[in-house]
Amino acid sequence: MRHLMSPLDFSVEELDALLDLANDIEKHPEKYAHACAGKKLATCFYEPSTRTRLSFEAAMLNLGGSVLGFSSADSSSAAKGESVSDTIRVISCYADICAMRHPKEGAPLVASQKSTIPVINAGDGGHQHPTQTLTDLLTIRSLKGELGNITIGLCGDLKFGRTVHSLIHALIRYPNVRFVLISPEELRVPSYIREDVLEANHISYTEVERLEDAMPELDILYMTRVQKERFFNEEEYIRLKDFYVLTKSKMELAKKDMLVLHPLPRVNEISVEVDDDPRAAYFRQAQYGVYVRMALILTLLGITVE
Ligand code: CP
Repeated sequence: MRHLMSPLDFSVEELDALLDLANDIEKHPEKYAHACAGKKLATCFYEPSTRTRLSFEAAMLNLGGSVLGFSSADSSSAAKGESVSDTIRVISCYADICAMRHPKEGAPLVASQKSTIPVINAGDGGHQHPTQTLTDLLTIRSLKGELGNITIGLCGDLKFGRTVHSLIHALIRYPNVRFVLISPEELRVPSYIREDVLEANHISYTEVERLEDAMPELDILYMTRVQKERFFNEEEYIRLKDFYVLTKSKMELAKKDMLVLHPLPRVNEISVEVDDDPRAAYFRQAQYGVYVRMALILTLLGITVE
């Protein structure tokens, strides 16, 4: 039995196979329509979500399976003090696979250690969000043709943004990937990622504060929201929340084939006027999230479709 806690739980070859499967699902959805008949997915979300929870549920329904779960800690027995370990033991009696989001870093890992079904980390605090990374990798590979040979700008809240942390871990395994880390001083990528991941692996990166300075060299601009829920000080959040706003005029500085990605939800960091730009790929990215989660469910359940 396998769980997914981090994008590094899959080798590059396994990831390639997963992304190939997701592309096949996109092309031939009818082939997979009954692949999970009789199987159940539990979505245990202790933190709010729109895309991750609903795309997991859509993925299982598209595969002919069923879904059950809860969408907030308050509507589960966590509100009465039940531990994650006890909850997953019980969920293991009801479902075949579980996607779990939790505000505490490491909670899905704790669950996986007590579980008798595969557990997927659907986001744990400011730590990792591996299925968003799978979504990002599928989007980049499908729209750019490969995962190597890119300069990617990561912009916004690089301190608390778990999607950025997971994406850096995943992309350093591909050749000739350069990172431009665009953030205010207060929201820089944590030193454990700069030093232990980027520098330790001799990955090329620069840090800049002005988005305009970085735009011309980017193949991909990955915008992120300032993570209000992770701030201890509301004044600090208010001061930083609109530090970056991607506008039509800033898009004029970019390459003609640059992609704009965003894990969503968006607050103010991408002006809605950018949505009509053909380079804006964040809603297509959300669609890729369904295909890749279908591929992940099949892979972790060991189901193959000929
Ligand atoms: N991208 C993402 O994780 O979105 P949700 O918080 O809506 O699941």
